[in-house]
Amino acid sequence: MSVYREKSRSAWMEVAPEKYPTLAEDITADVVIIGSGIAGLSTAYELAKRGKGVVVIDRGPVARGMTARTSAHLTSSLDDFYHEFISLRGEETAKLHFESQAAAIDRIETIQREEKIACDFARLTAYMFLAGETEAKALHDEQAALDTVGLRGSKVVSRPDVSHHLSNRLCLVIPGQGRFHPLRYLDGLAEVCIALGVDIFADTIVTKIEDTTDGVSVETSGGPRVAAGAAVVATNTPINDRLTIHAKQAPYRTYVFAAAIPDDAVDDALYWDTEDPYHYVRLHPFDDETLLLVGGEDHKSGVDEGVSAETRFGRLERWARERFPELGDIRYRWSGQVMDTIDYAAFIGLNPGNRRVYVATGDSGQGITHGVAASLMLPDLIDSGTHRWADVFSPSRKPLAATTHLLSDTVDVAKNMAERFMPGEHSSVNGLGPGQGAVIRDGIHLVAVCRDEQGDIHRHSASCTHTGCVIHWNAFEQCWDCPCHGSQFAPDGTALNAPAIQPLSSADGDVKVSQTRRPEAAAVS
Ligand code: FES
Repeated sequence: MSVYREKSRSAWMEVAPEKYPTLAEDITADVVIIGSGIAGLSTAYELAKRGKGVVVIDRGPVARGMTARTSAHLTSSLDDFYHEFISLRGEETAKLHFESQAAAIDRIETIQREEKIACDFARLTAYMFLAGETEAKALHDEQAALDTVGLRGSKVVSRPDVSHHLSNRLCLVIPGQGRFHPLRYLDGLAEVCIALGVDIFADTIVTKIEDTTDGVSVETSGGPRVAAGAAVVATNTPINDRLTIHAKQAPYRTYVFAAAIPDDAVDDALYWDTEDPYHYVRLHPFDDETLLLVGGEDHKSGVDEGVSAETRFGRLERWARERFPELGDIRYRWSGQVMDTIDYAAFIGLNPGNRRVYVATGDSGQGITHGVAASLMLPDLIDSGTHRWADVFSPSRKPLAATTHLLSDTVDVAKNMAERFMPGEHSSVNGLGPGQGAVIRDGIHLVAVCRDEQGDIHRHSASCTHTGCVIHWNAFEQCWDCPCHGSQFAPDGTALNAPAIQPLSSADGDVKVSQTRRPEAAAVS
């Protein structure tokens, strides 16, 4: 039986966001950070510890964007395999990448201990089970790659010493990984930042970020500006970029549910398999019960291939109940967005074409560790222009010949543009029930029409306000998804997720910047 309370709500969202003011007047800072997720707040903390004057701005509540939708596995092993990374970028780069991910987990462990942030941090062993079409050689190759990059103590075993097997085939055991409660951590970190003198503003929409002769200027929709020595754009995917970064990464949706499980039924560890897309599993202790988090069913954002979220959750639940028969009621179900890059590494550093504007994006399924790695690099990059990991994550890096197949996602952009000349998904609004939406052709226009759960109809242009791709309705999240670069819009047209800033224009073409109305259940940046 399933008793989840809402259509989409992560297990972390029970922690109510703290109230922060909106930016009401012009302000100056050494560094302005746009985005208050793991990358933004971690960077604010590191800069403040160096004595910098820091301002953080978020268009919604603090720390309630994509970081509120992670499963918060903390892994220094690579989501896409280090043996693949080595073959793309070589051993030395792979070693530096591993160093950054391991340092990120170490840094979270240190900060939560030193700053006394109660966030359920724990070091855990990870178990990667062979499944699907993957050959056993892949696990052995990965174990050798982990040794090469510096992760000591991993081993391939046929009978892992854990309560449950995700398959009865081989398993790669990886020590020294971890988990935490991401929102308890970030709320605690925000409090520490405030104590260090950081100014944090919520519900403030940044509309423009540009270099000036002596720093940067940041404009907000309400009018106030920030003048700073440098800016860090940490908005999941950058709001300040039209195409350069977006052409090198692509948005994917992933689905997670959390269900009750007896405390002693499953060993406290991280688990995932090698299917494509893979399944990932972990436990988390809450006040009154332990929940098992189960995720997977990833697909390109806005391209569901005719498979509904309900079907995807049904598959995940069946898969989990076969392997964890003690699984009880489902408490939460949610989805999140992952930005996959050309070569499995994030983009962290100076934004191409800017002098003092930096970006942190391209989580590649490792958003927490990439976000914290960004916080360890950006203070040095801002101060001196160098860091030992800078080349690994350079936003200016070009796709290697070997990675051109990873750019097939850009073909989807061309396919999406062709939709402009096709009939709409529906011929009229008449067939739309509450919570449903569709793109409808109205003469030469494509109109995004949805009926919200109260029954009200909303009509907007179906053109994403980033660079004009055709948006698609996401019935589970009750929002419009843009398949091209990851923007999301509420039924009323409000931009919820970067890179879009502007709301959807009305069906007759009016474009205005409105104050954000951010439903907690919808994905945000
Ligand atoms: Fe770029 Fe929509 S996110 S066109």
